[in-house]
Amino acid sequence: MTVEILARSENLLGAQVRGVDLRKPVSPQDVAAITQAINRHAVIVFPGQFITDEEQLVFSRQFGKLERRTSYARDKERIEHEEINDISNIDYENRLLTPGDRQRAMNDGNLLWHTDGTFKHIPSMLSMLHAREIPPEAGETEFADMRAAYDALPQKMKDELEDLIVEHSVYRSRSQVGFANFNDEVFARLPPVQQVMIRLHPGSGRKSLCLASHADYVIGWPVEKGRKLLQDLIVQATQPQFVYSHRWSVGDLVIWDNRCTMHRARPYDDLKHRRVMHRTTVQDIANTVELRYGKVPGLKSAQQ
Ligand code: OGA
Ligand code: MN
Repeated sequence: MTVEILARSENLLGAQVRGVDLRKPVSPQDVAAITQAINRHAVIVFPGQFITDEEQLVFSRQFGKLERRTSYARDKERIEHEEINDISNIDYENRLLTPGDRQRAMNDGNLLWHTDGTFKHIPSMLSMLHAREIPPEAGETEFADMRAAYDALPQKMKDELEDLIVEHSVYRSRSQVGFANFNDEVFARLPPVQQVMIRLHPGSGRKSLCLASHADYVIGWPVEKGRKLLQDLIVQATQPQFVYSHRWSVGDLVIWDNRCTMHRARPYDDLKHRRVMHRTTVQDIANTVELRYGKVPGLKSAQQ
């Protein structure tokens, strides 16, 4: 069987992948074709994949090293595997999260436009989200094309942004949804990190904006000025012409490339309906500043 890629359009993000059964080993040729589709379309959807956690892990590992989950609000995990993120409104006893639950407040962070893992020294490269249960309405995921958004900026703005470095932290994003009481262990584990503002996407050779709810301030600028710039850019980059909205069906596996997209979850009635997604995440190869300025041994000028 060979994979078939059905793009929404040549120049828009979003494509469907058919002709592959993720319960079975995927050939290196198919992995190469899928990688090519990711490089071009950034968000790809595999409908009708009724896979287990183990099958998702086996498939995901073919694209690189998987991140271990960073949970900070669940008392006890529902999912056994450390490399599967529990993106759900369900607790370890399979009950809906209740209004006062810390994890429920934490889930609201996903409603903000973000890029996965920019608050980590080495950010996330690919996220792979598998729909197990979906609410009867709403709860879509929106994706914004950061290469197209970059291309659309005036040259003067591109020049101003070219060398900016931004500090990112998980406290910044979570404080925006009223969640500030992190414990010391989380602070020690996830100190703030630096990322470039403009990334070169290696698989396409195109430049991309690196924005996220985790982006806190621009290094060397007054904090409020940097935040204003980041906010303006997020508004610019998420205009409808740059956005694909995914309406989920059970069995969809969606892969997105965090190096050139932002995304956000849309609200749904989470006190009434279950929404259960399992996410695996492939780590990028290095920190974006180190990649950009060639400070990674053996990867010199990988992004220059
Ligand atoms: C994620 C995420 C959005 C959603 O898993 O990283 O942001 O719609 N999910 O669940
Ligand atoms: Mn996310």
